[in-house]
Amino acid sequence: MDTKFVLDLPNEKTANFGFMWNMLRNPLEALTHLAQDQGDIARVKLRKRDLFLLSHPDFIEQVLVKQQNNFIKGQSLQRARIILGDGLLTSEGNEHRAHRHMLQPAFYHQRVEEYLPIMNENTSRQMSPWRDGASIDMSDEMMRLTLNIALWSFFGNAPEGAVERVNKSMGTLTKLFPLTQLPVPDVLRRLLPGFKKANADLREVTESLSKNPRSEKAKNALIHILKENCEAQFTNEQIHAHTLTFLLAGHETTALLLTWCLDMLAHHPQVQAKLQGEVDHVLGDRFPHEEDLQNLPYTRTIIKETLRLRPPAWAIGRQAVQDCEIGGQHIAAGSTVLVSQWVTHHDARFYENPHQFRPARWYEIENIAFPRYAYFPFGGGNRVCIGEHFAMTEAMAGLAMMSRRWSFMPVQEAPAKPSPSITLRPNKNVKLIIGRRAV
Ligand code: HEM
Repeated sequence: MDTKFVLDLPNEKTANFGFMWNMLRNPLEALTHLAQDQGDIARVKLRKRDLFLLSHPDFIEQVLVKQQNNFIKGQSLQRARIILGDGLLTSEGNEHRAHRHMLQPAFYHQRVEEYLPIMNENTSRQMSPWRDGASIDMSDEMMRLTLNIALWSFFGNAPEGAVERVNKSMGTLTKLFPLTQLPVPDVLRRLLPGFKKANADLREVTESLSKNPRSEKAKNALIHILKENCEAQFTNEQIHAHTLTFLLAGHETTALLLTWCLDMLAHHPQVQAKLQGEVDHVLGDRFPHEEDLQNLPYTRTIIKETLRLRPPAWAIGRQAVQDCEIGGQHIAAGSTVLVSQWVTHHDARFYENPHQFRPARWYEIENIAFPRYAYFPFGGGNRVCIGEHFAMTEAMAGLAMMSRRWSFMPVQEAPAKPSPSITLRPNKNVKLIIGRRAV
């Protein structure tokens, strides 16, 4: 596979304020241009330390896997501790390793399959008020759906008002996120208007989740592991941090995946028709079982293609602990290293017509030598998404169930535009017209 090395960097000596300005204005464009201008190893000289954007799959693999012990989470994730505490997303080193090991059983494949009935029941309940010809705000619907699924799967209950409170607080915190990134002491950041209220609301939700009796359905789930290890391993503060992390990391990304997916289907009727043919044939009139998910290859390509074109996690930041070398480039300790799903998933060297939504490309990719890290919607290495299998199961089952009953038609002429914040959201809520299918 060709690499675009440009080790002799044109703007090496320039403190690149232009780039930082573009990053604030439009980070997707800024990163894309940086990779186009400078190649697979792009370097921006900042005031104190360098920033590198590594775009070739081999270099991404170096950061996420082969040299993973030399990289810690970037500064922005460290600062997110003010919201998330020391949960799995933000912790480092031995603490991260030990906690991941303890929490992993809640995500074993056989356990995720136990969650499938919960996913199905919630999807069915979510669709029950839908009416033929209605215009539905899918952004909102999918957020509610995945939050309910996370609450019931991981905690075995959804306390009264929890969905509204979490959604509202999440909205506030997402808006405040850029401000929480300012290099000021935590006490000042905590004074941001709305911040205190959003955090207090979330804390009430996590406390009620761990207090309320869990349902039988969740007896082996996350809350069980957290409570069993309470006192011995986890402090109350850590239980709050883990609960919050799983609620937040576990619902918004999957909600966005489903929202983008439905928007793409509404604008690609042939893809939608083929999907309907597959789910009608495999599911007939019943909810999806675990074996069905293996027999829905086209549904899977649609999910994969959506994750390629609109990756909910659009960039991953790391900081080098010690000096190292990647692709012949010296990377000094303290440098920031970015790898971006957005940039690499749109690289024409790996994907023909990369901006086109074409799920069938994944059948072709199966038959060629394809670099592993040209596609990394869930990251990789020791920090790979713990919820990958959960999210794929949820998205496959949800999409299959929705497409079995409903057709989706666009309200807008074109699919929504991506708007990057912590995650890759649509620039405005996606509204679609739904039509009841004659089944
Ligand atoms: C489409 C859905 C999802 C996407 C695209 C996604 C993406 C990612 C990515 C890229 C990372 C790695 C971040 C990094 O390396 O810095 C990650 C980590 C993580 N994700 Fe997900 N995720 C999804 C769903 C979920 C779900 C359903 C859960 C929970 C059930 C979850 C929980 C987590 C946690 C706890 C981590 C941190 C893991 C660690 O550092 O050990 N995610 N996710």
